[in-house]
Amino acid sequence: MNTRQRVSAFFVMSLASASCFLYAGKATAADDQYAQAAHVYDTYCVQCHGINRDGKGLNTKDMSVQPRDHSDPKGMADIPDDELHKAIKEGGLSVNKSVLMPAWGNVLTDEEIKEMVVYLRHVCQCGPK
Ligand code: HEC
Repeated sequence: MNTRQRVSAFFVMSLASASCFLYAGKATAADDQYAQAAHVYDTYCVQCHGINRDGKGLNTKDMSVQPRDHSDPKGMADIPDDELHKAIKEGGLSVNKSVLMPAWGNVLTDEEIKEMVVYLRHVCQCGPK
């Protein structure tokens, strides 16, 4: 490979990885209505709840209680909106769930948590009972 070929191979590779990155961003924050909440989720929640929102994040291997699968319509339908809100704001313990679910009330505003609950209903494609 001469220098010119090497440079163009590098260029093609960077382009490929850049478009992968753009595509990944699109796949998780596809819909404008949910873009903000999806972004928050991608920042603070994915390490436990997973990039696919299925409770299989990178952190979960050694966790004694597994994070909620937000893509599961059955499990999510059992939880009312106000419990979702409280769990996110005040943490798992506040709703008699695991302390491994952190409290986000000092990180997210009430408005952002409300948007997150709406977004979670979109993710599970389910309403509360
Ligand atoms: C450190 C890991 C961790 C992070 C980060 C995390 N969670 Fe959780 N989450 C958990 C675990 C573990 C549970 C399951 C608790 C249980 O079932 O006892 C849970 C449960 C939940 C539940 C269900 C509560 C219920 O009543 O069953 C919601 C909703 C939730 N998380 C939302 C979020 C959101 C939104 C974020 C990001 C802002 C987030 N979580 C970040 C670990 C985490």
